[in-house]
Amino acid sequence: MNVDILVTENIGGRWLEELKSKYSVTVEPTLWKSPDKIMAILPSCRALIVRNQTRVNADLLSAAAKLEVIGRAGAGLDNIEVPAATAKGIVVASTPDQNSISVAELTLGIMLDLARKISASNQHAHGGGWERQRFMGAELYGKNFGVVGLGRIGFLTALRARALGMNIIAHDNYISPDAVAVAETRAELMDLDKLLARADFVSCHMPLTPETKHFFNYDRFSKMKPTGYFLNLARGEVVDEAGLLRALQEKKLAGAGLDVREQEPPSSTPFAGMENVILTPHIAAMTREAQERVVAAVCQDVGAVLAGGAAKNFVNFPKPKHPKS
Ligand code: MLT
Repeated sequence: MNVDILVTENIGGRWLEELKSKYSVTVEPTLWKSPDKIMAILPSCRALIVRNQTRVNADLLSAAAKLEVIGRAGAGLDNIEVPAATAKGIVVASTPDQNSISVAELTLGIMLDLARKISASNQHAHGGGWERQRFMGAELYGKNFGVVGLGRIGFLTALRARALGMNIIAHDNYISPDAVAVAETRAELMDLDKLLARADFVSCHMPLTPETKHFFNYDRFSKMKPTGYFLNLARGEVVDEAGLLRALQEKKLAGAGLDVREQEPPSSTPFAGMENVILTPHIAAMTREAQERVVAAVCQDVGAVLAGGAAKNFVNFPKPKHPKS
C-alpha cells in the first residue's frame, strides 16, 4: 500500500480533505492501538498525523524510511519522542496555542462545578430530588486560585479566574517575575508548599516530562487545605492517582476535577461514585472551535512541508533534514 499521509487517530474535516485532494491519505482512527500495523504502513509515508494516543517512539520511527513530518494535533508532546524524530531529520509540528482557550474554559467550568456542586445537584434533581441544603456551595470571588505552571494555558486560566474576582497565586520554576503572564494576572509567585497551603483551588498546568511524572503525590495533596480542590486538565501521569485517592479518603482536600487520567482510557475508576470528584474523558480541547483550529494548523503545516515549504508550528526545525530533501 502506497500511503503519503497516515492518520492514526480521529481527525477529519475540510483541511484534511484538502490534503486528500493532493496526496494519498489513509485515516484509521483506531490504528494507534496497533503499533505493528502502523509500522507496516509507515515505510512509504511522508507524513504522520496523530493526536495524543499514538506512541511515536524510536522503535516506531525505525520504520519511517521516507517520513518528513509528524503533525501532532494537540499541544502535549509526551507521546512523541522528539529527539528520535530530530535524529532522523523529521519535522515535528504541533498546535501549541490552538486549543488553549478551550482548556482554560473547561478548567473554569469544572472549578465552578466543584464550588457549586452542579453535576451532583443535577443528578439529584434529575432523580426528582429537591434537597437544597445538601448542595450548599461556595463563591469563587475572593478565593485563591493556585496555578502550578504559568504557561499558555495556566496564564489564560488565571486571567479568567482573575475576572471572577479570584486572587492568583502561582508556582513556576521557569517563569520570570517580569513575564507578561505574571503582570497580566497580577499573580503572586511563590514556592510550591506555600501555594499548596494557601490555595482554595490548585490547578495543574504542567506538561508531562520524566521530572513531572507523579509530581502531585500523597505528600503534596496532604499539604493542601482540607477545604481545597485540585484540578488537572493537563496530563494524567503528573498525578499519582493512588495518592490522590488516599488523600481524598483521609479528607486532606475537599475534592478534585480530573479531565485526564494516569491511563487513558482508564482500566478502572477508583473515584467512581465520589460526588466530590468531577471526571471528564479528556475533553478539554474538544470544542468545535479548538478542533477547527487544531486540524487546520496541523494539516497546513503538513501540507507546507510536503510541498517543500516550512512548518509554522515546528517543535524542532521547520523543514526536514532528510538526506533525500
Ligand atoms: C493537547 O495536548 O493538546 C490536549 O490534551 C488534547 C489532545 O492531546 O488531543
